[in-house]
Amino acid sequence: MGIKIGVLGAGMFAKSFIPLYKVHPEVDKVVLADINTDRLRQVADTFRITETYSSLEDLCRSDVDAIAIFTQRHLHAPQTIQALRAGKHVYCAVPMAHSLEDVQAILDEVKRSGLLYMSGETSYYYPSTIYCRNRFAEGGFGDFVYGEAQYLHDLSHGFYEAFQHSGGADWKKAAGFPPMYYPTHSVSMILSVTGARATQVSCLGYRDRHEDGIYREGANLWDNPFSNETALVRTSDGGMARFNEFRRVGWSGKNCVYLSMFGTKGSYEEHAGSQVWSSLEHGSLQSLDELLHSNDYVNQQSDPDIPLALRQDFESGLSLVHDVDRLPREFEGMPNGHFGSHQFLTDDFVKAVSQHKLPPIHAWNAAKYCALGIIAHESALRGGELLSIPDFGEPSPSWNML
Ligand SMILES: NC(=O)c1ccc[n+]([C@@H]2O[C@H](COP(=O)([O-])OP(=O)(O)OC[C@H]3O[C@@H](n4cnc5c(N)ncnc54)[C@H](O)[C@@H]3O)[C@@H](O)[C@H]2O)c1
Repeated sequence: MGIKIGVLGAGMFAKSFIPLYKVHPEVDKVVLADINTDRLRQVADTFRITETYSSLEDLCRSDVDAIAIFTQRHLHAPQTIQALRAGKHVYCAVPMAHSLEDVQAILDEVKRSGLLYMSGETSYYYPSTIYCRNRFAEGGFGDFVYGEAQYLHDLSHGFYEAFQHSGGADWKKAAGFPPMYYPTHSVSMILSVTGARATQVSCLGYRDRHEDGIYREGANLWDNPFSNETALVRTSDGGMARFNEFRRVGWSGKNCVYLSMFGTKGSYEEHAGSQVWSSLEHGSLQSLDELLHSNDYVNQQSDPDIPLALRQDFESGLSLVHDVDRLPREFEGMPNGHFGSHQFLTDDFVKAVSQHKLPPIHAWNAAKYCALGIIAHESALRGGELLSIPDFGEPSPSWNML
């Protein structure tokens, strides 16, 4: 028998996942909840969802096995804790949390209850990350020396519209979210390849000057003055990494998440659209452009709610490094997005719940990705002071991995 999933939040991102949950062979039923009742009705009609709820409380009281959270980024942690306490497995769009206390509270709930938590980090299934993970596992990099990853996303590229979509008159207060509180697109790329954790960080912030006044002390919920933050990190395997999280940046690449990694034997380097492998063994550079190219997923019925600047992200498909054979046949020809990741994230969560196994982006990995950013922002507020990052540990060895 399949599982019953409750999607929380009928916003722009949830609409990319609902059709995938609906056709997954291990899902019996998808229900939907949103406090915005007009939006709830409209999205439920579009996807022919017959069971709906107008609050998280009601959804928690229902008989769903799992709740997939697609609400605004600063709401995730308390909603996750509420859902876990109601006995539901949780999938949550990133980030997991923006305080160490909430990270710990989620881990405590997961450990106490034995329920599953999965973070929906799209970068984990980007072609470049998959390629580097495979190369690293087979020893091609040797020891990890240094990596750099960045998420460059100017507010004018669809973010104003995204924050206004559900933010009401006060939308700017949530839009001033510290960049390093949303670090996982860049951080997960490197940490998911090596499996190490970040132990220390020094971070600098760029004091924003834009006339929209979003990033200022007193203007947002976090008193955050920084629109761009750069962190230098020590990793537990003796390596070093640099992460850029920029929200005010003149950049229009084909992609806004970039990765480069250097090892003692081989390296992967990515610059403005070109991706190469280089190693001591083979003297010359090997172009990876074809291998890592994501097919455009051309959706004839593009969602008009998705800002034009975000369409490419929301509608990009699979590459040659994606292990398509592990996906359910039912996903063939279905929507995909964020460089093929949507289908893998959906499949991981459904299989994890129905087989009761830990998915790759489990709570302990999500904590690693998130804690780095939380401490990095603190360091930026203290002018770059080198700070230690707490270790939230690893899952119990009694868990079976998916
Ligand atoms: N690449 C990625 O990983 C990626 C890309 C896009 C969005 N996201 C994340 O996905 C999340 C959703 O983004 P979005 O653009 O769809 O947001 P959105 O504003 O379009 O939708 C959020 C929805 O959640 C609903 N909601 C809020 N609180 C609720 C509650 N208590 N109960 C029920 N419903 C509630 C709102 O009414 C709204 O309809 C965000 O966290 C965003 O950061 C991630």
